[in-house]
Amino acid sequence: MTEQALKVLLNDLSLEEKVMQLVQLPGVAYESGAAVTGLLNDTAKARTLRLAGSTLGIWGAEKLNRLQKEYMENHPHHIPLLMMLDVIHGHKTVFPCPLGQGAAFDPELTERAAAVQAREAAADGIHVTFSPMADLCRDARWGRVMESTGEDKYLNGLMAAAMTRGYQGKNLKDAGSVAACVKHFAAYGAAEAGRDYQNTELSEHTLREQYLPAYRCAVEAGARLVMSSFNTWEGVPSSANPWLMQTVLREEMGFSGAVISDWNAVGELVPHGIAKDEKEAALLAMRAGIDIDMCSGCYEKHLGALVEEGKVSLDMLDAAVLRVLRLKNELGLFEEPFHGAAPDKAKAILGAAEHRSLARKAAAESLVLLKNEGETLPLKGGKIAFIGPYADEKHLHSAWAISTDREDGVTVWQAAKEAFGQEAELRLAPGCLMLADGTATSLEVFTCPDAEKENARLLAEAKEAAAWADTVVLCLGEHFHQTGESASKVDIGLPEPQRRLLNALKPDCKRLAMLIFCGRPLTLQAESEASHALMICWLPGTEGGHGIMDVLTGREALSGKLPMSFPRHVGQEPLHYDQYMTGRPRPKEGIGSFTSHYLDCPNEALYPFGYGLSYTDFRVSAIRLSGDQLAKTGELTAAVTLTNTGKRAGTAVLQLYIRDLVGSRVRPIKELKGVRRVPLQPGEEKEITFAITEPMLRFWTVNRRMESEPGDFQAWIGLDSSTENTAFFTMTE
Ligand code: GLC
Repeated sequence: MTEQALKVLLNDLSLEEKVMQLVQLPGVAYESGAAVTGLLNDTAKARTLRLAGSTLGIWGAEKLNRLQKEYMENHPHHIPLLMMLDVIHGHKTVFPCPLGQGAAFDPELTERAAAVQAREAAADGIHVTFSPMADLCRDARWGRVMESTGEDKYLNGLMAAAMTRGYQGKNLKDAGSVAACVKHFAAYGAAEAGRDYQNTELSEHTLREQYLPAYRCAVEAGARLVMSSFNTWEGVPSSANPWLMQTVLREEMGFSGAVISDWNAVGELVPHGIAKDEKEAALLAMRAGIDIDMCSGCYEKHLGALVEEGKVSLDMLDAAVLRVLRLKNELGLFEEPFHGAAPDKAKAILGAAEHRSLARKAAAESLVLLKNEGETLPLKGGKIAFIGPYADEKHLHSAWAISTDREDGVTVWQAAKEAFGQEAELRLAPGCLMLADGTATSLEVFTCPDAEKENARLLAEAKEAAAWADTVVLCLGEHFHQTGESASKVDIGLPEPQRRLLNALKPDCKRLAMLIFCGRPLTLQAESEASHALMICWLPGTEGGHGIMDVLTGREALSGKLPMSFPRHVGQEPLHYDQYMTGRPRPKEGIGSFTSHYLDCPNEALYPFGYGLSYTDFRVSAIRLSGDQLAKTGELTAAVTLTNTGKRAGTAVLQLYIRDLVGSRVRPIKELKGVRRVPLQPGEEKEITFAITEPMLRFWTVNRRMESEPGDFQAWIGLDSSTENTAFFTMTE
C-alpha cells in the first residue's frame, strides 16, 4: 500500500480498531500450545482476538497461515496480524548463544547466521524477531549476559548491526526476511547487583558513553522495532520514560519505527509505583511513546477511554497506529499476508544441511581456549574418556531456543565417535548429575530421587574410565536453564556435584582437558588449576558437538576470544576491562596501601576480555604509528607485523585499544576501537593497519555532548585487552 492509502485506512478505522492495533496478545490466546515467555494475566476476550494488532510465541507455516486467514476474514478492515517470536540464536537450526557469537569476534559470520535464522523463522510464518539484544553486560551474576555479546560497546555495536542486517536482508518484503527488534532499551544489563528486573543506577555520562552506543548501531543498521526494557533509569521505568524513548531514541537517534514494550512492562508500572492503576500506566506509556503494549492488557482496557477523555490525543493515537500499519506494510503483509510462508517450503528450509554446516562453523569459531599445557589439545587419539553431564547432552542451547527440537542436537560423544571411528578407543561416563537435587533453574526445580546414590554410581564408573584413559575430556557446565531470563545467581561456580566429580577424578587423570558449557563467565580458578587444557564452549547450539570435535581434533583452527572478563571471584562483579581510571590506581607491582584494591583478591580478571589461545603461536611486532600528531580532520595509522610462528595455520583476532589520557571527565583505562581477524599459514606474516580518526575519540564531555578533546592518547594493538604493546600520540585542536 502507498503511504496515502495507509492514511486513508487509518482514518477509516473505529477508535476500538485503532486501539487494538496497539495491543499484542500472548500466542496462547490463539493457540493453546504457544510459548509463554512472561506472566499471563486475564486471557483475551473473543472481541480482542478479532482485533488485536499482533501476537507472539506461535510458529508453523500451516498454523500461522490458517490463523492469518481466519483473522483477516474476521477483521472489519481485514488488516493482517503481525506474528512475532524470540528467535534469539536460532529457530530450527540453533547457533551458539549470542555470548558465544560475541566470542567469535566475527560480525560477518553472525550476519550470515542471522540470515539463516530469519530464513527459517520466516518460512515458519514469523514476521518479527525480538533480537538483537544489544544490552551492555558487565555483571556475570545476571543470567541474561548469555543473550548479549558481552561487556564491550564496540563489539556489541558490530554484532547488533550485523544481526539486524542478517535478519532484515535487503527488503522486508522478501520471504526470507524478518523485522529486527533491538532490545532492551535501555541499559537493562545494568540491573543492580546483577539481579534481573532490578533498578539501574547509572550516570547519564556512563549511559551515553557505554550503554547506548550498541542500540544506536542497530537503529542505524535499520532495525524496524525497539523494545522498551523493564528497568528504570533515574528512577523512571523505560516504558514510562519520555526522555529515553522520545528524546534519546527518536530525536537523537532518529528512530522512526515501532516501539513495543517488553512483556507486561506497561502493567508493571503499577508495582513499580509509578502508576496508581493500569489506566494511568496506559497513559504514561502512551506519553512515553510505547506503540505496542505486549500482553499487559492496559491499552486494551483503558486506551479508548483515555482518548475519549482527551487525556490521549487522537493525533498521538493515530501516530502510534500509523507506525504499526507502516511496519505491516513494509513487510508487504497487505498484499502477501502469508509473507511467503508455506508448509512445503518450510520443510525444505528448516534445518537445511547448509544451515547446519554454518551452525557447525559458528560453534567452532565461538570456542575459547584458555589453557593448553603440553599441547594436550588437539587430541592425539589413544584411549580417550569423555566424562561429565555434558559429554552426551543434546540440549546445547539456551532456554530461549524455544522453537527448536532438542533431538536435533549433536552431542560431544556422538561427534567423537564419528570423528575417531577406529582410530582411538573411546569411553563415555556421565560422572554425576548436572545439578544437586532440588536446585532451582529459571524454568523448573531439578529433582533426582536418591541423588547421592546415583552420583556414587556414576562416580565409580567415571573413576574407572579416567584411570583407563590416556586423556580425559571432562564436559562440565552450568545447567542450560540457569542462564537467560530470571536466572541471576550469586554463586557463578560450577554446580556442586560437578565440583565434587572433578575433585574425585583429578588423581586418576593422566591428561585432563576440560570443556565448560555456560551462558556467563564462571569462577573457574580451581578448574583451571586442575586441568591441562581448559576450553569455554558456551551454549554452542544444534551442531555444538560437531563444532567442538572439529576443534578438538584440530580439523578447525581455534580463534575465539572472551567477550566478557572471567573473574577470580564473584565478589569482583561487575567486572569489565574498560573501567574508568581512579585517583588511586593499584601499582603494577605489589599492592600499595591507600590504593584501589581488595585485600583478598587481585583486581584483574582470571582471564581478561579479548583473551583466547590458538593451536599455533603468533608474534605481534611493536606497534608503529604513522605519526605522533593527529589533526582533528586527519588520520593516523597504527600498524603491526603479525607472524604465525607456530606449526599450524591459525586465525588471530587482533585488537586496537585507545585511551584518552586526560579528559574533562574520567576516561576508561582503555577501550576497544578496532578488530581484525587475520588468517595466517605457518611462517606467514602480514602487516595489519588500523586507522585512528577523531570521531573514535569522542565521549560525553562536561559540555554534555559527544565530542573529542585535544590532548594525549595511548594506543595498543595486541591479542587481548591486557596487551602492553603501546604507543602514544597527541590530537591537536
Ligand atoms: C521477555 C523478555 C524479552 C522477550 C519478550 C517476549 O520477558 O524480556 O527479551 O523478547 O519477553 O518473549
